[in-house]
Amino acid sequence: MQGFITLRLLLVVTIIMIISAGIIFGCLPDRDPAPAIFTDDESTPEQAEDLPVFEDSEGSIDDETADDLEDQQDEEADEEDRGQLSESGEETMGGSSSAGNGESGFDRDSLDVIADGDYLLALVSKETTLKSDYKPSDLQRIPSYMNSSHTTIYLRAEALTKLEQLWEAAEADGVNLLRIRSAYRSYSTQDRLFSDYASRHGEAQANRFSARPGQSEHQLGTTVDFGGTSVDFQAAYADTEQGRWLADNAHLYGFVMSYPAGKEHITGYIFEPWHYRYIGVNAAMEWKQSGKTLIEFLETKPQTFQ
Ligand code: DAL
Ligand code: ZN
Repeated sequence: MQGFITLRLLLVVTIIMIISAGIIFGCLPDRDPAPAIFTDDESTPEQAEDLPVFEDSEGSIDDETADDLEDQQDEEADEEDRGQLSESGEETMGGSSSAGNGESGFDRDSLDVIADGDYLLALVSKETTLKSDYKPSDLQRIPSYMNSSHTTIYLRAEALTKLEQLWEAAEADGVNLLRIRSAYRSYSTQDRLFSDYASRHGEAQANRFSARPGQSEHQLGTTVDFGGTSVDFQAAYADTEQGRWLADNAHLYGFVMSYPAGKEHITGYIFEPWHYRYIGVNAAMEWKQSGKTLIEFLETKPQTFQ
């Protein structure tokens, strides 16, 4: 009899434990969806997906970013009222600074092929292309304190040294830059990214926030996307402590924001306050003085094409 009671007690306790476990685990929040990862064919650096600019975790356009886009369109209209596109360097470039290359009329065969991807001042635009096999030879892993993801992120050696100095300086000013979301991306990774965005948002929209393969500054290995905030890859990043510090100080370490607000008609891309390209300290100081967009500034520098 005593054995029977013990058995019943054991059964009741077990049932209670099973029910409790169900309640506890059932109430746990869903884990964040894993970021989409694109692995290189060459099984070299892996990168986290860049720029979920227009999407929420379900992959649809969310209201906040749609509002951002509308604001940017308004800004652009204002810009167009105010001024003309820069014509500097057009004759020597064999291209123009206009932000063409939209959905229709894209002609890969007519692009100027960048002779030297290692050149820190190489003009990467919608009228130029890096060779599909261009890959910097001095890529280095960024340290783990800059990268909280499970992917390995690479940057060219000089850019990384300067990034470390920039990081230290930010910290000394009480700003934790948090993390790098993306840096070097191969041609094939960019190809997959652009195709993915184009299939989800249409080619014309994708072309506003993602570079076509061969046209991304990320392929240079000198470009980083800062993040780690709740507004990564959104215009609102500009208003974070990190975004403000970078806008004020990044040039002191050779980094330049490539796609500023209201300049889509020149750069070809919406405002990307998280995307910075390393061009060397002296050049970045000169760029700051110039007041130009990076693309206009680089058009004033010697370029050779094949
Ligand atoms: N988001 C920038 C334009 C890139 O894809 O390189
Ligand atoms: Zn970027």
